[in-house]
Amino acid sequence: MKIILIGYMGSGKTVVGKGLSKELDLPFYDLDQEIVRRQGLDIPSIFKEKGEIGFRKIELQVLGELLQSEESYVLSLGGGTPCYGNSMEMIKQTKDAHTIYLKASLETLLGRLWGEREFRPLIAHLDSQELLEDFLRKHLFERQFYYNQSDLVVEVNEKNVEGVVAQAKNLLNEHRAITRF
Ligand code: S3P
Repeated sequence: MKIILIGYMGSGKTVVGKGLSKELDLPFYDLDQEIVRRQGLDIPSIFKEKGEIGFRKIELQVLGELLQSEESYVLSLGGGTPCYGNSMEMIKQTKDAHTIYLKASLETLLGRLWGEREFRPLIAHLDSQELLEDFLRKHLFERQFYYNQSDLVVEVNEKNVEGVVAQAKNLLNEHRAITRF
């Protein structure tokens, strides 16, 4: 069984993924961390050296390798992963892969991302809250098309990590009863 967490930057994919992997007793992978490990460079350096297109190619390749493995795991994607190339199709065609969209509102994301933007190459240049808000609104709108193709959705806004993990686990159990995975 492969559980794949999808959502915008700042939606909590990594921390929720770690919590869910403990609850389900499955190994945890974070796609960004796998990319960093294999490239020996952090994400901002990969963007700087290879550009966003270079990063997307590496991202797709590492995702493909993880999907091909026979292993069961919880995997947190990067915010853009399902929106480029044929990633979402690859995920949907993977046997026993189940996607969860961690859905955060614009307000939640703004609050979380403003102070962290220097580590995030796509938003590092946005130097006022208004510019960040305009960017996020447009970007979320474009990406929702892909995020909404997930099997399950958990709203994260008012919840702490434990609450999100608990709801994700409950939804997975219900989904399991229906799909018998
Ligand atoms: C990106 C999100 C980042 C990272 C890269 C690009 C995106 O991952 O993959 O900076 O396109 O939204 P997180 O969502 O884990 O921050």
